[in-house]
Amino acid sequence: MRKITIAIDGYSSTGKSTVARQLADWLDYVYVDSGAMYRAVTLYALRKGFISEEKFDRNALVEALPGIALEFRKNKNGKAEIYLNNENVEEHIRTLEVSEFVSPIATVPEVRRKLVKLQHAMGEGKGVVMDGRDIGTVVFPNAELKIFMNASAEVRANRRYIELRDRGADISYEEVLDNVNERDHIDTHREDSPLRKATDAIEIDNTETNIEDQFHTILQLAKDRIAGR
Ligand code: DC
Repeated sequence: MRKITIAIDGYSSTGKSTVARQLADWLDYVYVDSGAMYRAVTLYALRKGFISEEKFDRNALVEALPGIALEFRKNKNGKAEIYLNNENVEEHIRTLEVSEFVSPIATVPEVRRKLVKLQHAMGEGKGVVMDGRDIGTVVFPNAELKIFMNASAEVRANRRYIELRDRGADISYEEVLDNVNERDHIDTHREDSPLRKATDAIEIDNTETNIEDQFHTILQLAKDRIAGR
């Protein structure tokens, strides 16, 4: 059976990763969470003090880029987890602190170039499901299936709030909503590879539907594309 490239883009907390991961498991494809790669670079920048509330030393980050190695390795349950310079940082990249600084980091063209190159290497010529912001527009413009996911900011913030609270984070819904709105703004307004729907992407809004239900819709679309329909 022929292998295709599936690009899943959209706003934060629209359930992209959940659907993409499930789809990759079902099809036995490689799954790449490109947001995790931007988050890992952000974690690195925070740890090195390149970025904080007070400053953002872009030059120092750009100079340090060759020393940042990223890869995904499967854990014992078969779930791909991200490694930053050989350290499993899957948990460390999901904090609100990383979420607060990731959008400015993702505006840096040198960061984007490095990560896009890695994304090509991870997915090219394979059956791959990749989720992010610019997968259908920049990383794999020829992807056979492109999905663009959306939902209202309030619904997305509520999902992320529940997720963070379940992990023990001490935050309010308002803080999470502010972060979602701010990230949306930066992600859609940056100069390099802004978040936008590819002209040939299929838009799916899950403000009112269950993310799980959408899996079947997207799986059917994938099966159609694999069959050349
Ligand atoms: O999908 P996520 O929320 O984990 O992504 C975190 C941030 O990374 C998001 O706010 C913008 C950035 N990002 C990006 O610029 N391009 C991608 N392909 C994926 C993520």
